[in-house]
Amino acid sequence: MEENVIKTVVDQVDIVDVISNYIDLKKTGRNYVGICPFHDDTNPSLTVNREKKLFKCFVCGAGGNVITFVMKMENCGFKEAFNKVVELGGLSNDLKMKITQEFTYNPYNEKQRRQIKMNEIIQEYLSYNIKTANAEGSYEYLTGRGINDEAQKRFGLGYMHDVHLVIRFLQQKCGFTREEIAENDFFRINDFGIYSPYEHRITIPIYDRFHYLIGFAGRKGQYETKLDAKYINPSTTDLFHKGRILFNHYNAVHESRSKKEIYVVEGYMDAITMDANGYPNTVAIMGTAMTHEQIEYLKQIKRNVVIVLDGDDAGQRAMFSIYRQCIKEGLDASFAVLPDGKDPDDMLRTQKAEMDGILANYMYGYEFAASYCYDPVMNFRRQKELIMEMMDDFIHQDRDVLDRSHFFHLIQENYGLDMESIRETYQLCQQKIQTKEATDRKMADRTFTPEIPIKKGRVNEG
Ligand code: UTP
Ligand code: MN
Repeated sequence: MEENVIKTVVDQVDIVDVISNYIDLKKTGRNYVGICPFHDDTNPSLTVNREKKLFKCFVCGAGGNVITFVMKMENCGFKEAFNKVVELGGLSNDLKMKITQEFTYNPYNEKQRRQIKMNEIIQEYLSYNIKTANAEGSYEYLTGRGINDEAQKRFGLGYMHDVHLVIRFLQQKCGFTREEIAENDFFRINDFGIYSPYEHRITIPIYDRFHYLIGFAGRKGQYETKLDAKYINPSTTDLFHKGRILFNHYNAVHESRSKKEIYVVEGYMDAITMDANGYPNTVAIMGTAMTHEQIEYLKQIKRNVVIVLDGDDAGQRAMFSIYRQCIKEGLDASFAVLPDGKDPDDMLRTQKAEMDGILANYMYGYEFAASYCYDPVMNFRRQKELIMEMMDDFIHQDRDVLDRSHFFHLIQENYGLDMESIRETYQLCQQKIQTKEATDRKMADRTFTPEIPIKKGRVNEG
């Protein structure tokens, strides 16, 4: 029902019309183009296609339909964007009433929905297993790590004991065909038939931001050897794409509406232990890389985004590059730094009070960069480069004079430089950026000279 309403609206409104409420569009051939509002664009790289009802930016990759555009533009949820589109598109206000809740939005096709349904049944079956002898000590293992019954239940943790029992259950009780089962990523086929790479593993369901179960992670259990990978992840398919998911996204947003922060950790176990310790507002990026899509989701959550990766060299380096990436993409993230070699899960189990302090006293990105991105063996050439990079990043943020003074002092302390040279260098950086921006503008004018001057909010019909 709701999907029909959504389809009606997407089909009926003119995407070009709606988008021109936000940016100027100009017709070129079949498409319309404009300056992309989702990255620091100078040449018009956003294309809108009226017939296909889609937009796409060839530089930053942002794309989607009219509702996605408004969601991104207004930084709002699905329902709000939907209503806005109805308004801007001049459709009947009655349509607005027909959308009730955000999570009823279903972006999946029929086949994918069957797979999601199967995942749900698999999850139910496996979570029943966890408290039985079949779980081979996993329940005790999890509770030993401080993940109590409620947390196990909230995350839907399970144990994959015997693939044949699961398959039989799916066939006999739920009517799934062998073909459908073989197509689910939870199962694979070899010469002996269907098996599951998740066998003898603790299963962690992975939900998308609308709470659809799109795949599982499998953590190795007590009986796997050192050589086995710690985690099995879903394969990349049109249903699952690691870079387009924040683990625990839905719950982190919906189970903690009163919280001001959203914490971003590396691993599944970190997110689960954070939840078990009073931080349900935590998502995991499932490794140390952060993608454009993940940054977009974090922006939409509209809370203080606090990055807390592991306190090892790799974690620290990853945090610095995430900091720089966030600035480029317009996300003002904060950072919390853990003691060397610790991850959030270790900290909460062994030094809970200290961890609570670290999580509450998070820093601005520039503070993190200027205080921690310093390696005593780094040569001065590299230090200089780093200082310039940090200044460059600082200038690209919206910071006040106190921040600037604090930033300078951190550089003074950590790099042993005098204030005069720091100020002078900073001014040089500022000038460089201004010159570059001026050149970019000139280049843009040269490559894109509209025959008709573009006016804000107007569509130029070629
Ligand atoms: P970690 O090794 O820190 O795992 O990897 P963890 O989640 O803290 O697990 P425990 O505490 O050892 O039980 C961080 C994240 O990197 C990805 C997973 O998303 C993991 O949660 N990862 C790690 C993999 O995908 N595969 C691996 O083999 C290891
Ligand atoms: Mn860990």
